[in-house]
Amino acid sequence: MERRDFMALSAATLASGLTAATAADTVSTPAPRAVQGELLVAKPLPFDPKSLDGISKKMIVSHHDNNYAGAVKRSRAIEEKIVALSSSANPFEFGALKREQMVALNSMILHEYYFDALGAAGTMNSKLKSMLESSFRTVGEWENEFKKIALSLSGGSGWVFLVYNERLKRLENVWSWDHMHSLWDSKIILALDMYEHSYQMDFGSNAKGYLDAFFKNINWNVVNTRIGAIA
Ligand SMILES: [Fe+2]
Repeated sequence: MERRDFMALSAATLASGLTAATAADTVSTPAPRAVQGELLVAKPLPFDPKSLDGISKKMIVSHHDNNYAGAVKRSRAIEEKIVALSSSANPFEFGALKREQMVALNSMILHEYYFDALGAAGTMNSKLKSMLESSFRTVGEWENEFKKIALSLSGGSGWVFLVYNERLKRLENVWSWDHMHSLWDSKIILALDMYEHSYQMDFGSNAKGYLDAFFKNINWNVVNTRIGAIA
């Protein structure tokens, strides 16, 4: 090969390599991680807050606007901190934020299950009744157990859930504390908030009074829809 031809080929190869490297750099540079906050927005109460029987508008609105909406705001603020955290940060910094994120996100989600099934509508359908009977023998025994678990939390803080568990293939009542406990592989059918903010304004320490009011205000149409989604 003539020297002139060799130089031309080398220049072309170098130019080609530079072009490829530039293209690779462009492809491999991801956009900065962003807060995906479009779903971290508080939903409105799905019923008229004046319509509940035995639960005041003042208490339910305070519960929604302060406790629930506060959890939504915390979820977003924590996500912003996680996104902003440098990859060189200490593991415990990630760990602390991930724990707080778990509490805030679960509080948001559980409150939505709670509010969505209030508003006093409909009655328990035959599928739910049948599944309660096969899981607890009678509907009354389910309700008795559910309420006893709730009363065990009064003076403390936590949730009680009726869930359908895929592993057990049946309904189960679940005790939950700090928005964090769950029986994994479960779908929530009914969620009861037993944190003090959910009843003390109206009921003081009378947790049983709150329980009775909760049961009077269940929107069974929503609960039936949830059980209907279970195969
Ligand atoms: Fe709450």
